[in-house]
Amino acid sequence: MTHEAGIPLGIKFKLLSDTPQDSAAQVVNDVVVGDYRDLDTLRRFAQGCDVITFDHEHVPTEHLRALEADGIPVRPGPDALVHAQDKGVMRARLGELGIPAPRNRIVSSPADVAAFAAEGPAAGDGDGFPVVLKTVRGGYDGKGVWVVRGADDPAAAEPFKAGVPVLAEEKVDFARELAANVVRSPHGQAVAYPVVESVQVDGVCDTVIAPAPGLAEDAAVHAQELALRIAHELGVVGHLAVELFETRDGEVLVNELAMRPHNSGHWTQDGAVTSQFANHLRAVLDLPLGDPRCRAPWTVMGNVLGGDYPDMYSAYLHCMARDPQLKIHMYGKTVKPGRKVGHVNVCGDDLADVRERAAHAAGYLRGTITE
Ligand SMILES: Nc1ncnc2c1ncn2[C@@H]1O[C@H](COP(=O)(O)OP(=O)(O)OP(=O)(O)O)[C@@H](O)[C@H]1O
Ligand SMILES: [Mg+2]
Repeated sequence: MTHEAGIPLGIKFKLLSDTPQDSAAQVVNDVVVGDYRDLDTLRRFAQGCDVITFDHEHVPTEHLRALEADGIPVRPGPDALVHAQDKGVMRARLGELGIPAPRNRIVSSPADVAAFAAEGPAAGDGDGFPVVLKTVRGGYDGKGVWVVRGADDPAAAEPFKAGVPVLAEEKVDFARELAANVVRSPHGQAVAYPVVESVQVDGVCDTVIAPAPGLAEDAAVHAQELALRIAHELGVVGHLAVELFETRDGEVLVNELAMRPHNSGHWTQDGAVTSQFANHLRAVLDLPLGDPRCRAPWTVMGNVLGGDYPDMYSAYLHCMARDPQLKIHMYGKTVKPGRKVGHVNVCGDDLADVRERAAHAAGYLRGTITE
């Protein structure tokens, strides 16, 4: 989708891909198949690139530092990106900046988890559970996140098996999840998208509503300012998604950061004047940023998750005939249960109607709705 945004500008891509079947490898013509964890592969790949950017955050920080030392611009740079790679580093830095977050601590055993739970303000006469455990690196789409219900819950031991440091967090009883998305360029220009609501099902993003329904103007501006401040303090270049929990008394806490085009910004392809992909590219190339405002009162994005697939052609026939305003974005991925394989966007004036149309199309393309 970033490549798609680069086409009208004549921006040429070279892609480092895990396999020739990856979504981007199906559309970019200059593809190197290789392992992003291998420095020699990265060095060979980087030759001839004016600038390097990412669609995931798992390239090892030290390799990115080596590329920078070789004189290759990496955007976002490793000193910023590490806060999206490592949830422990992110929690420590945002704590220093005084940015509100769930109570948290790095833990190294189930006994530490029980101690962390017991110290919580909500522990009272109980044991302080539930607690959320996360591996600090390598997680995505809820993989690497466990909710632990008590000291003898088997989930308390699970995260330690990966051999990666583990972060414990209080389980926030949030009213809903929001995302504040901003884009910042090397020369310091920044834009803020309208704050959105994101709905997760089983730890995976299901629906995004832009703008977040019922969010007061001052609360929205506060969340945008928070995201802009994080982008500035961490020196982010490109798109920054700040995932937020809105508490029942209207406070916002930072969940995590992503420094790349993000699922909470997919609505911008059809619902904003400039998409997150176009603005990410503009920022990475230090071009002036585009207008982030909405094109319609409401845009709803629905993720298409892999399941029992209908025949795609007949699914397209049905969805396109039912809703001529529907926008479908499929990724060409092989289908695995629960995997994000595409999304749909619907814009309009009536939120209930827009939500129904997006949910119907996402469900139909997934095969869970059949009429
Ligand atoms: N401290 C917490 N309290 C309550 N719920 C939480 C907490 N941390 C995470 N969650 C829930 O789990 C989901 C996934 O957590 P998180 O965003 O940290 O994981 P991830 O797998 O890295 O994310 P992503 O799906 O964005 O790649 C969150 O969106 C939220 O619904
Ligand atoms: Mg997340």
